[in-house]
Amino acid sequence: MKIAVMPGDGIGPEVVGQAVRVLKALGDHAPMEMNHALVGAAAIEKTGIALPAETLELARKADAILFGSVGGPLDELPDRSKRPGTALLTLRRELGLFANFRPAFLFPELIGASSLRPELVRGLDLIILRELNGDLYFGEPRGIGKTPDGRRAGTNTMYYTEDEIARIAHVGFQTARQRKGKLCSVDKANVLETMHLWREVVTEIGRDYPDVELTHLYVDAAAMALMRTPTKFDVIVTGNVFGDILSDEAAMLTGSIGMLPSASLGKDRTGLYEPVHGSAPDIAGQNIANPLAAILSAAMMLRYSFDQPVAADRIERAVRAVLADGYRTADINEAGTTRLGTIEMGDEVVAALKRQEA
Ligand code: IPM
Ligand code: MG
Repeated sequence: MKIAVMPGDGIGPEVVGQAVRVLKALGDHAPMEMNHALVGAAAIEKTGIALPAETLELARKADAILFGSVGGPLDELPDRSKRPGTALLTLRRELGLFANFRPAFLFPELIGASSLRPELVRGLDLIILRELNGDLYFGEPRGIGKTPDGRRAGTNTMYYTEDEIARIAHVGFQTARQRKGKLCSVDKANVLETMHLWREVVTEIGRDYPDVELTHLYVDAAAMALMRTPTKFDVIVTGNVFGDILSDEAAMLTGSIGMLPSASLGKDRTGLYEPVHGSAPDIAGQNIANPLAAILSAAMMLRYSFDQPVAADRIERAVRAVLADGYRTADINEAGTTRLGTIEMGDEVVAALKRQEA
C-alpha cells in the first residue's frame, strides 16, 4: 500500500500525525509505505508553489493520498494560483477524483452534542455524494473583469456536461443500492439551466436502477429538510457547490465537523482521503484539534482503496470505544466527559486498538 501523506496547513499536520500513528498501530496486518509531501501554504513557504511538481508526481504514483487540510490567510490573494486552497482543487481535478463521499454518521455516543434535539437526529446515517470536478468551481469563463462603463464585474460559470452528471449519478445509484436504496438528487432545476439538465440526466440514469427510490429536491428545500427530518435521507447526490455547502450543514448534525471523514474517488482505486474540516488556523498548534475525522479518513482509505474492511472496522471500533469511554476533544462540549488534547486522543485510539488484539 503506497500512501502519499500530505499534512498541509493549520491543524492538518496535527490531525494527520495522529492518523498515521493509528495506521502504524495496525501492525503487520497492513504493510504500508508512506511518503510525505508538501502541499498548501506549507509548500508555498518552502517552494513558492501550493502544489509543487514533486507532490503531484508522488500523488500520481500513490495508491492513496492521506490529506490534512490546506488554506489560511493566503486564500484571500487575488491570484488564484498562489492560494493554498487551489492545491486541493488541482489535485482533485488532475487525478480525476470526481466522486466525493461525505458521510454524516451520528455516533450514538455523541447524540447530546448535535445541534439538533436527540429525537431529530437519532439514527442519523447519510452520505452526501458531491461531484468534485465541475460546476462553478471549474466552469469557464471566469474572472473579474469590467463592465462596458468600467465598473468591476465578477463572472463564474455553472457548467456540467451530461457525461459528468451521468457518471456521478451512477455512483449515487450504486451507493444507494448498497445502503438503504434511497437516492435524493439535489439541484436548482427551477432556476438554473445547468441544474435542469442535472435533473433530466439523473432521471434518465434512474431508469437503469428501478430498485433504487429516486427523489429530487431543490437545494433550498434540501437545506431545510436536513434541519427538519435529516434521518429520512440515505444518499444525497449533488453538484460541487451545493455539496460543499450541504456537507458542512450535515456535519453539524453529527455533533462536530471534527468527526467527519471523506473520500474522493475517481475512475481507478486511487483515492484522496481527508477530514471534512478545514485548516482551522485559529486553533492550529495548540494540541486541541479533533484528530478523529483524520483517523476515520484513514479507515475509509483502508476500506475503499485497499479492500481492507477488517482493518477499517478495527479503527472505527476503536474510535467508538474511546467515545464510549467519555473522551472528547475541545470541539465537543458535553457535560460529564473528559477533555483530551489531539495527541492524547490519538493515544486513546491506539490503546483501544491494542486492546482489541488482547
Ligand atoms: C471543502 C473545502 C474546499 C472546497 C476548499 C478548501 C477549496 O471547503 O473541501 O469542502 O471548497 O471544496
Ligand atoms: Mg467546504
